[in-house]
Amino acid sequence: MKQGEAMSLLKQLLPLAALLLLSIVPTDSRVVTSVKDCNEFFLQQTPPNIPGILEGGNIRDQNRYKVICQTLNNTRTFVTLYDTQNKIPVFSAAKFRGSAAGRPLTPWMIEPQLEDPDDDDNMRQADKNINYEHQAVNTDYDPYNQQGFDRGHLFPNSYGSNSTEKNSTFTLTNAVPQNKRFNRGKWKKIELCVKRFLDKSCINNNKKIEGFVVIGAKPSDSSLLNNNKINIPSVLWSAFCCYSHSQNTWLAGAHWGNNRDDDLNHLETKTLGELHTTEGIDAFPGTRCPKSLTVPQLFSKCPFKSRKRKVIGIHKVPRKCVGKKQISWG
Ligand SMILES: *[C@@H]1O[C@H](CO)[C@@H](O)[C@H](O)[C@H]1NC(C)=O
Ligand SMILES: *[C@@H]1O[C@H](CO)[C@@H](O)[C@H](O)[C@H]1NC(C)=O
Ligand SMILES: *[C@@H]1O[C@H](CO)[C@@H](O)[C@H](O)[C@H]1NC(C)=O
Repeated sequence: MKQGEAMSLLKQLLPLAALLLLSIVPTDSRVVTSVKDCNEFFLQQTPPNIPGILEGGNIRDQNRYKVICQTLNNTRTFVTLYDTQNKIPVFSAAKFRGSAAGRPLTPWMIEPQLEDPDDDDNMRQADKNINYEHQAVNTDYDPYNQQGFDRGHLFPNSYGSNSTEKNSTFTLTNAVPQNKRFNRGKWKKIELCVKRFLDKSCINNNKKIEGFVVIGAKPSDSSLLNNNKINIPSVLWSAFCCYSHSQNTWLAGAHWGNNRDDDLNHLETKTLGELHTTEGIDAFPGTRCPKSLTVPQLFSKCPFKSRKRKVIGIHKVPRKCVGKKQISWG
């Protein structure tokens, strides 16, 4: 090919190249394709590894799993990886900055950009005239309220440090159909115990409360809510990690429980390593969070059992709530 011919061919191809480029430039929205876009909610900006779903920060099936930088009134508060097929979150992750009291009467909201990538970044209440195809809405849950399923928060409102953060947990992309007795019983108790622990023990070098939590749900094989629309997860799991300035060490713990009303009284505190081997989840990969140690005193200050345990002694930790391997410190 002569130089002149090559040039004219190039000129013909240029508009095509421009068109191709335009079509691969992503549109601006808060449902982002990479977890890196809201990595401020992960310890050391590193997301968890969930086998087959999120590995080394890469989402395996980008059509199905969507990263949501949860945003309310233009404030980003936490991050969720959402499964648009099962219509429940895989996990929500957040930075814990100290919990504020009270439960707001905020109505449940939805994520506009899951339906239309060009829509607003902010979560809002569902529009009755819209048929939401990629997420669960309130009316999906309503018929089951009396039948034992709560809209169970993954990132709980009680962990929010201010009113905006608390309100923002009321998005259905942060909720799963959760057995009512499980949600209001054991899960609530351990949520409270972890919260108290984080508030008290996770004080960083700047004297600020700082911890990281990742809380997720494992979808069931065949348990479905509302005409097969929403997966009822089989297990809920939770992990935390923080650096404690006063103890000059990293502290971590995990727990999980079956999403049903079984007769276990309490969920045990487990290690991150046990969460990894049992559920396959590496909650804080590549960090200094201890894998085989957990926190024995998690339950010792929890009011829900101190009354009964008073007789035995205030420092006694109920055996059921303690992981096998413990750190002992003064
Ligand atoms: C968003 O901000 C407005 C104005 O401050 C407030 O009235 C509203 O309650 C906020 N929305 C939520 C869900 O918190
Ligand atoms: C509330 O918390 C969020 C973090 O979740 C933070 O970005 C925001 O600035 C806080 N708002 C106020 C009013 O402190
Ligand atoms: C949170 O929601 C409550 C109840 O809807 C509302 O009164 C309050 O103003 C909201 N907080 C913020 C900071 O928007």
